[in-house]
Amino acid sequence: MGFEYREGELYCDGLRIKTVATEVQTPFYLYSYETLTSAYESYKEAFSKIDTLICYAAKANSNLAILNVLAQKGSGIDVVSGGELFKALKAGFPPQKIVFNGNGKTRQEIEYALENDLLMINVDSINELLVLNQIANQKTKKARIAIRVNPDVNPITHHYIATGLAKSKFGVNIHEVKDVYLQASKLENIEIKGIHCHVGSQIIQANLYGEVLQKVIKLTEGLREIGISIEYINLGGGLGIRYHDEDVPTIQSFSEMILPHMINTNYKLILEPGRSIVGETGILVTRINYIKKGFHKYFVVVDAAMNDLIRPAFYKSYHRILPVVEHNMEDEGLTTDIVGPICEDGDFFAHERLIPKPEEGDLLAILDTGAYGFAMSSNYNMRPRTAEVMVINGKYHIIRKRESYEDLINKEVIPEGLA
Ligand SMILES: Cc1ncc(COP(=O)(O)O)c(C=O)c1O
Repeated sequence: MGFEYREGELYCDGLRIKTVATEVQTPFYLYSYETLTSAYESYKEAFSKIDTLICYAAKANSNLAILNVLAQKGSGIDVVSGGELFKALKAGFPPQKIVFNGNGKTRQEIEYALENDLLMINVDSINELLVLNQIANQKTKKARIAIRVNPDVNPITHHYIATGLAKSKFGVNIHEVKDVYLQASKLENIEIKGIHCHVGSQIIQANLYGEVLQKVIKLTEGLREIGISIEYINLGGGLGIRYHDEDVPTIQSFSEMILPHMINTNYKLILEPGRSIVGETGILVTRINYIKKGFHKYFVVVDAAMNDLIRPAFYKSYHRILPVVEHNMEDEGLTTDIVGPICEDGDFFAHERLIPKPEEGDLLAILDTGAYGFAMSSNYNMRPRTAEVMVINGKYHIIRKRESYEDLINKEVIPEGLA
């Protein structure tokens, strides 16, 4: 079911969104359980011919309920901080299905990872490898690792999220990675399990993955020649979704770029999809507070803001915006900016967008905001973070309460005697 109109009203998994908005108040993120689970199942299905572990990328949306749904479905998880690891364990992921990524893990995070015997830690540099070996030694543990290789490929995506270029900060230069593996193989407390790469996010050319995979397989063959065997190839995440009118590969067609290279090998595959699992699962529901005419254009001022959804400001990204209740549809509509109440010009959701003629009080749904939506939200302008709500079998559940004004101050302290 997911999100669909029924007689001019937007529903989520069979539930009227207007009803949820009246009861929960706006703005809020709304997630469809069905869309979430079916995206995960699509991955399982598409890669069922080979030994594959889907490690959902927690950074895309780390709400405990979302994590719990995926853990129950059998997913693994990719974490990039101690906080994500904590939530992954709380949500019920078995440590043997957790991979720990990141280019700047602290000693505490490494210790935490080792104490929990994760499937593997993806190492980003030779120096990190040495620190890991030393900490593992202190803890009398063996650290299972993959090394993140930077393959120097150029995905066509926003430059902030292209992570596999020679100039990017991630991974070990593909020309040096063999040496790093050789060093790793000599370290007492390191056990080599895999090879990792992640070339970017919102990638819509599926063939890029075939190209990267060929490079990685060639590398692993080179490693085999020097006596280093690789069990897991981790291709990271990054598969894009359709935000506007992009031609986007399906999960099935994505798998078709990968399977032919993997099918006759003994490697196990790990994937770390984030956006393509939760992106379409969520919407941000917001109410129009004001409509005003500026010098040259209209502004629709809604009660959500860039602190709730920063993607338009940060990446200039496009999100479809639909009325929750369709009316005035026969009218020619209004071309308008859709903006929030924050004191920044970057506080917008759309520029010069044609929408059905809006009225103050109307509800709007900002689509495809399940990934990097709430996860990147903040309290900027001292706005309490929104509620998060999930519809399961036609009933809604609050999976994160709206923050209160008290929440805004409860970690802050005015030193005694200051005034
Ligand atoms: C190492 C790693 N894996 C997986 C992901 C998830 O990417 P996406 O949400 O585009 O699938 C990211 C995102 O940046 C990442 O850095």
